[in-house]
Amino acid sequence: MQLSKSTIFITGANRGIGRAFVDELLVRGAEKIYAAARDISAVVDDPRITPITLDITDSEAVARTAAVVDDVDVLINNAGVTTFAPLVGGDLTDIRSEMETNYFGTLAMVRAFAPVLEANGGGSILNVSSAAAWFGMEHSSGYAASKAAVWAMTNGLRIELSGQNTQVTGLHMASTDTEMITSLDIPKNTPQAVAIEALDGFEAGELEILADNDTRAVKAALSADPIDVYPQAVRHNQPQPL
Ligand SMILES: NC(=O)c1ccc[n+]([C@@H]2O[C@H](COP(=O)([O-])OP(=O)(O)OC[C@H]3O[C@@H](n4cnc5c(N)ncnc54)[C@H](OP(=O)(O)O)[C@@H]3O)[C@@H](O)[C@H]2O)c1
Repeated sequence: MQLSKSTIFITGANRGIGRAFVDELLVRGAEKIYAAARDISAVVDDPRITPITLDITDSEAVARTAAVVDDVDVLINNAGVTTFAPLVGGDLTDIRSEMETNYFGTLAMVRAFAPVLEANGGGSILNVSSAAAWFGMEHSSGYAASKAAVWAMTNGLRIELSGQNTQVTGLHMASTDTEMITSLDIPKNTPQAVAIEALDGFEAGELEILADNDTRAVKAALSADPIDVYPQAVRHNQPQPL
């Protein structure tokens, strides 16, 4: 797939990583981009860009939108939220909102756009997950669960949409310097570096893109004993060797 020859629909396009995606798509010669967000006032003003007001948690609005943008052959599901609500003491409304946006909102986009992609030859989907899909952190566990759900969904879609010739790619990255995590004073990727890494991999046909070393490390640790990853974990008995 060549992004310069594609018609692209991207969610969460008004700031952060989505904005960096839009800038990088323009650098790569994209001629037609539908740039969606709830607030489109900050979407880049460019003749190649059509701003679309869209809340991805409103599945009827998502379906109405997909019905009018019938030329899309690349869908980038970037929109997402985090609330930092703890799983046990946090407000369940916050935890549900992470699942509603990150998982069900992304799923609504895929369900509505799959026929559009099929009609245009199959096309490609890029789902933005996170390193958090693979690593638990205090105060980000509801978010992490929603991103693990996006990972599992992406794996399933790869199978379900193979028959219509759709490439389904997942993107995972660690902390990145956007509004989402301004409150955290930790090392961060730049949104530009993530967008470049992601679009390089997407165009090259990678099905899972790990955008930085921290993400590669947490993916590699999936096969480790949890006590090595979470040293604070409580374990009541020491497992006996078999
Ligand atoms: N920043 C990080 O450290 C990091 C790390 C790993 C993964 N990610 C993921 O990267 C993606 C982009 O996040 P970001 O860091 O760029 O955060 P951000 O600056 O907060 O941007 C989030 C974007 O999502 C849009 N959005 C949120 N809820 C929406 C809804 N219901 N409908 C439509 N659009 C919605 C926002 O626009 P409106 O509010 O105007 O709708 C905004 O454009 C997210 O999926 C995030 O989970 C981020």
